[in-house]
Amino acid sequence: MKKWYAVIGDPIAHSLSPFMHEIWFQENDIDASFLPIHVEPSKLKQACEALHLLGASGFNVTVPHKQAIIPLLDGIDDTAAKMNAVNTVVRNGKKFKGSNTDGDGFVQSLRTANPKVDSRILLVGAGGAARGISFALNRAGFKDVTITNRTFRRAEELAAETGSKAVTKAEAEQILNGFDIIIQTTSVGLAEDEALPISLEKVREGTLAADIVYNPIDTPFLKKAEEKGCKTLNGVGMFVYQGAISFEKWTGIKPDTEKMIQVITEKLGGNYVNR
Ligand code: ATR
Repeated sequence: MKKWYAVIGDPIAHSLSPFMHEIWFQENDIDASFLPIHVEPSKLKQACEALHLLGASGFNVTVPHKQAIIPLLDGIDDTAAKMNAVNTVVRNGKKFKGSNTDGDGFVQSLRTANPKVDSRILLVGAGGAARGISFALNRAGFKDVTITNRTFRRAEELAAETGSKAVTKAEAEQILNGFDIIIQTTSVGLAEDEALPISLEKVREGTLAADIVYNPIDTPFLKKAEEKGCKTLNGVGMFVYQGAISFEKWTGIKPDTEKMIQVITEKLGGNYVNR
């Protein structure tokens, strides 16, 4: 029987996950579909029951449901538990199990820039995305991580959990030239006219600036970083790798990520540079 998968979120029309997974299904001769499903927060429980009843083999969960889905599932793995967020649900017989591939997806993308494991890293933001990334960096052996956030208390809390340091935004801006990698994880950047979450005035030339936002591909943060002579890493890699890890959890197959980064970059109107 044809299998089907989905991504649920609110809004959902912008999601490129259906486009990406359908290509991977075709490339791997898998007879399956991938549907975007608009689910409002008040309907999440019914939606989860419907996915179960109608036989979804698995699904992605996006904003704003990543935490709210947890009590509706039959269980979650350690990564999702640490992050207190689920982006991937796998069906195992009659059970739905939650996982989270966002943090590992980011680290796989970061690896394409060949970072040294002793790089001094500044993580900007302390929300759900920053949480996943800080745990994944830790697991991958990157130990020199400093967290800064508009609300300092959240940076302190996350730093305490991951054995990182926390600095205020003003401090981070003063010591910016001491970092090799700066990772932008806040939701700023989705809108062109928003102020940057951190001033890049003191950034050192050659620093790697990474953004997790992939649409727009050239965020204000990356544009500014480029102006200052930084190397940049946009959010397309993270998007593709988090999807590839989900795909492997669902099908047992590792899809082609390199080609997909190229396809998604072109779809978003960016120029693909083959590293
Ligand atoms: P997500 O799951 O996408 O990370 P979140 O948990 O709501 O979403 O976290 C959003 C992050 O973006 C937080 O670090 C937030 O900072 P606060 O903790 O101070 O709220 C950050 N953020 C959102 N808007 C921002 C802005 N205008 N300037 C700076 N940081 C901002």
